[in-house]
Amino acid sequence: MDKFIIKGGKPLVGEVTISGFKNAALPIIFGCILTKDKCTIENLPDIRDVAKAFEILTAMGAKIEYTNENTAIIDTRYVRQGMAPAALVSKMRGSTYILGAELGAFGKAEIAWPGGCDFGIRPIDQHIKGFEAIGADVTIAEGFVRAEAKNGIIGNSVYFDTVSVGATCNLMLASVMADGITIIDNAAREPHIVDLANFLNTCGAKITGAGTNVIKVKGVKELHGCTYSIIPDMIEAGTYMLAAVATHGKIKINNVIPKHLESISSKLEEMGVNVEELDDSIVISNTSKLKKIRVKTLPYPGYPTDMHPQMTAALCFADSGSTVTETVFENRFRYIDELRKMGADITV
Ligand code: UD1
Repeated sequence: MDKFIIKGGKPLVGEVTISGFKNAALPIIFGCILTKDKCTIENLPDIRDVAKAFEILTAMGAKIEYTNENTAIIDTRYVRQGMAPAALVSKMRGSTYILGAELGAFGKAEIAWPGGCDFGIRPIDQHIKGFEAIGADVTIAEGFVRAEAKNGIIGNSVYFDTVSVGATCNLMLASVMADGITIIDNAAREPHIVDLANFLNTCGAKITGAGTNVIKVKGVKELHGCTYSIIPDMIEAGTYMLAAVATHGKIKINNVIPKHLESISSKLEEMGVNVEELDDSIVISNTSKLKKIRVKTLPYPGYPTDMHPQMTAALCFADSGSTVTETVFENRFRYIDELRKMGADITV
């Protein structure tokens, strides 16, 4: 579909069920490589990135079979290293996780330069810093990233200079079967980091501290397959929350972990929106005029960078004078020209 036609002017009212989290699904799917076994992954989101990840894994030798629309058995027993197709890898940021997974499984990794959403430069220097610390030589040439640990993966302490979700996941993947202990300091704390650690631990890994800024990975000899269910997508949930706000609607959002949504809920409450948290659902209703607020994106548990465009759109209907500050990516305000075309008064 290359066009959406939206007939606006109606409050969104109803119930919606949230899918599994893309940002957890991708490292977990590629993490299956480490098990060289069969993993049953439940609550997979039905999205293009998962389909692409499965295409990549299949080209690497995996066998993937859906048992229902959200559950797949991923058999990585015959996966070979260095087989990820460049054309697919270069379309998806999540394919960086092939580096960590291959390095952990084979001591060697190779992928084309990964693509993904264009929020700016998106370097991978911290991923490389982590790989080098645990014994890999990393080279970037002719559009490929290659890593090799000739003497094996050896546990070490790594301090990340910037809080990076991707680098934290990648180092967990690469070090899970290291010889010795790896300490990841200044680690990202996002719920998907915890989900990846829980998945790897279910496969036999020994990871502690995920969800704090120091993660300890005690290397194990091997991993085994498991059955694992992916957490709900906090960004999809947050998007429906803001849709209810912007349209003065009322939406019950099912299959969420309200704790993951706290940074969003608290901003909505500041705006005067009603937020009702239930066990695994949240109800957003908005009847009054929205108050202006200040929002600043930060790594988790701060307000998520992936939720700032939705917030900016909703703030167009609030008292004037709100500010949105982006601190995670340097180039994430380009959508604002499109809002201006629809009459929004926004200054960057
Ligand atoms: C992931 C999410 C993305 C989300 C982002 C921040 C996936 C597939 N994507 O992206 O939706 O917006 O987290 O929550 O999970 N950085 C470096 N060097 C590195 C790595 C990152 O300087 O080696 C910088 C980035 O340029 C950025 C910041 O660190 O400014 C955070 O990036 P990171 O957390 O790594 O984002 P991704 O993992 O790419």
